[in-house]
Amino acid sequence: MSFQIAIDGPAGAGKSTIAKRVAKIKEFIYVDTGAMYRAMGYYLMKQNVGPYDEAAIEEHCVNADITIAYENGEQVVFLNGENVNGVIRTEAVGNMASATSKNPKVRERLTALQKELARTNNVVMDGRDIGTCVLPFADVKIYLTASSAVRAKRRYDELTAKGVACDLAQIEEDIIKRDHQDMNREVAPLKQAEDAHLVDSSYMTIEEVVDTILKLCEK
Ligand code: DC
Repeated sequence: MSFQIAIDGPAGAGKSTIAKRVAKIKEFIYVDTGAMYRAMGYYLMKQNVGPYDEAAIEEHCVNADITIAYENGEQVVFLNGENVNGVIRTEAVGNMASATSKNPKVRERLTALQKELARTNNVVMDGRDIGTCVLPFADVKIYLTASSAVRAKRRYDELTAKGVACDLAQIEEDIIKRDHQDMNREVAPLKQAEDAHLVDSSYMTIEEVVDTILKLCEK
């Protein structure tokens, strides 16, 4: 049986940073499910499908062949054979992923791929519905969150460090909008699983969060 660590939470809570570190220490594979939804969003954008055009999303999503591979321990996402790791990291693709991930057919395709990965590997998997839908029997479930103000400030610092001009209030507004969209959709909304441990990282360091998760794995 594989060992499964599920980490869910809103955008910008630090899921991927934490999940990557835990995976490295445990020597598990890290599965970033958001990247799969982003690859799908990117594909649909390229097909000129509108974010709320459910019929067109259903028609086109079946033509997106999304697979993942590991290169030097890093997850690489392929869309119809093309490495899309770089191009899926924009805000526009993130927002398209959030909108199109509401579609049940999109979720069905990507959930099947995620379940299969976790069946055959020890995983740290992060996303929105991992503990609730994808891996309901995960060994350890974490709901990682932080206040919207803290998440916005982290994002602002990241962008500013890269020399990108941005507006803190606008970033927080976008985060709140994305939370609302991810938490209020009909299928597999973001919510804390009943048996998930709540970790609020607002005033914790990365090391403290990682330690908390490692301790839970030992229990
Ligand atoms: O974690 P992220 O920002 O890369 O995810 C992008 C969007 O994908 C997110 O806003 C909602 C969707 N998503 C999802 O619906 N289910 C997941 N397990 C992961 C992401």
